[in-house]
Amino acid sequence: MKVLGIETSCDETAASVVEDGRRVLSDVVATQIELHRKWGGVVPELASRNHVMQVLPVVDEALARAGVKPAELDGIAVTSGPGLVGALLVGVQVAKALAEAWQKPLAGVNHLEGHLLAAFLSETPPTFPFLGLVVSGGHTSLYAAEGFGRYRLLGATRDDAAGEAFDKGAKLLGLPYPGGVAIDRLARQGDELAVRFPRAIVKGADLDFSFSGLKTALLHHVRKHGVPEGKALADLCASYQEAIVGALTHKLFRAARRLQFSRVVLAGGVAANSRLRAAVVERAAEYEELSVFLPAPKLCTDNAAMIAVAGTEALRRGERRGPDLAADASWRL
Ligand code: KG4
Ligand code: ZN
Repeated sequence: MKVLGIETSCDETAASVVEDGRRVLSDVVATQIELHRKWGGVVPELASRNHVMQVLPVVDEALARAGVKPAELDGIAVTSGPGLVGALLVGVQVAKALAEAWQKPLAGVNHLEGHLLAAFLSETPPTFPFLGLVVSGGHTSLYAAEGFGRYRLLGATRDDAAGEAFDKGAKLLGLPYPGGVAIDRLARQGDELAVRFPRAIVKGADLDFSFSGLKTALLHHVRKHGVPEGKALADLCASYQEAIVGALTHKLFRAARRLQFSRVVLAGGVAANSRLRAAVVERAAEYEELSVFLPAPKLCTDNAAMIAVAGTEALRRGERRGPDLAADASWRL
């Protein structure tokens, strides 16, 4: 079963062909990072306009690299939410048009489900049930994944997402967008014990997260001491990153322990963070029988292969969407 995935929810125009929901035949991502960098973040109107220009060439490229003709496809899957509405619409309209023209079944995929299922493209995919942590630019959510299409939200951020904490923190430090990548790189030369940050934890609210206080603490630090350079900047990045990673692992392992999960899956752009990956593997080693599943970094950040995986499973369950498929910018999983 060969499914074409299309993703345009934010600032990457992506298309991919995946076979049987497990083998990536092609994975094309046209990133708009350079376009948005000078604005310090994603500008929705620029994102939509750029998706319009990129989406058909990207789909053609994905089919060509996979060596698959449209007639050989068994279905089309597209991200229909959540995300920037104007950006989502581009993918949704194109997917509906192609499904109609090529007479293929169509599935509308939740972007967060896509992230959660990226781990199924690894050599050793997880099995259900598992505890999934989605950490991206817009979301920080813990899910109990009970089966394809069956997810229970256990906790989420009360304010900023983990990726936002990275991006906004980086902006304060004068580092380029997307900030997570810049902080990850600089932090490798830094000492995470150099600066003390408050632990980004919500008291009482069990499995929820909060990162806005941490961002404010960084702002106060910078106001008082200025933006450091060289080794001191690396130390500050390492300390700030450690506070985010500490909060994420704290809640992740609390949930794993309490709900007795034996599998933990990381997903979303922040799951590409080298320190978070190492910290989760380290912590998991303290538990008997707790396996960690980390998608390859390029499958953590936005891509269409993960959308094709979720779409394949939806089509297998009999989902068929038609011209009524709409973009839902705030679709909750
Ligand atoms: O999943 P994603 O590509 O897009 C959304 O769905 O939001 O996630 C993007 C986020 C950005 O905030 C970016 O700074 C962050 O993921 N990110 C990272 C790293 N790579 C991407 N954060 C920390 N360390 C990284 N290596
Ligand atoms: Zn994403």
